[in-house]
Amino acid sequence: MTHAHGSHRHGHDHDQAEILDLDAEVLAEHLASIVAWLPVPAAPRAIVDLGSGTGAGTLALLARFPDARVTAVDASPAHLRRLAEKAGGGVRIVEADLDHDWPDLGAPELVWASASLHHMADPDATLRRVHDLLPPGGLFALVELDGFPRFLPPDAPADRPGLEDRAHAASERHHAEHVPHRGADWGPRLAAAGFTVEAERTVTVNIEKAASASVGRYALSSLRRLRTTVEDALSPDDLAALDRLLDPDDPDGLLRRDDLSVRTERRVWAARRNRP
Ligand SMILES: C[S@@+](CC[C@H](N)C(=O)[O-])C[C@H]1O[C@@H](n2cnc3c(N)ncnc32)[C@H](O)[C@@H]1O
Repeated sequence: MTHAHGSHRHGHDHDQAEILDLDAEVLAEHLASIVAWLPVPAAPRAIVDLGSGTGAGTLALLARFPDARVTAVDASPAHLRRLAEKAGGGVRIVEADLDHDWPDLGAPELVWASASLHHMADPDATLRRVHDLLPPGGLFALVELDGFPRFLPPDAPADRPGLEDRAHAASERHHAEHVPHRGADWGPRLAAAGFTVEAERTVTVNIEKAASASVGRYALSSLRRLRTTVEDALSPDDLAALDRLLDPDDPDGLLRRDDLSVRTERRVWAARRNRP
């Protein structure tokens, strides 16, 4: 392999879609429980999924509200293609960069945004637009991650214990610079945009000793992507240990381990557009 760096870049785009799909698969029950928890007095006829990615939320929403018309909006054509394959025509798909002018998104009673708001250039402006899109009394369901999922036990890998934590610490420094809105407290910002936060919850995911093939692939895709942001910050020994974990043929690699678990947290806000 002469272009190690290039090959990692090449894997990057593919990995994001792969991670989103695996995330949806591994966390399906948690996602369904978030959707089931939403305080919706009557089944919405129209729903918008903002920054839908490959459709984790879109499909979970459709499972609870099968008669609703769901509009999935995202800037990534590749993600939307994947969503279209999975949804099989039952979803209106709109390709748009939500940092620019918004296309016509209909008249939804429920707007959902999962792990997408923090990507927006001006999330407070996005919140005001969501407010204006909803009717008075309409619901905005906001889901955000506090951090990226963890997979390895703290004493792994045997030769470099704590590697995952060190890699995440390096990644946090990177993200603090490049994605400053991640992990924000959205409650006051929702209020400033004209919403009342009706309910808020933290969903703690801890899938222990998960030995399923999907968890191994989820860990592999996630840590492969993490490598691209931390490769210059890790010590050579840590980077070498990370590469062994990422090697599908290594006997202690992620795909072959039986000690992985999935540990992550989602925060959810159910925000109602104020009535006049
Ligand atoms: C972490 S993914 C979350 C996807 C999905 N909501 C989920 O929960 O699996 C963030 C998504 O937001 C999309 N996104 C980021 N910035 C955007 C923008 N300015 N306009 C539209 N979509 C955007 C990305 O393309 C990506 O699909």
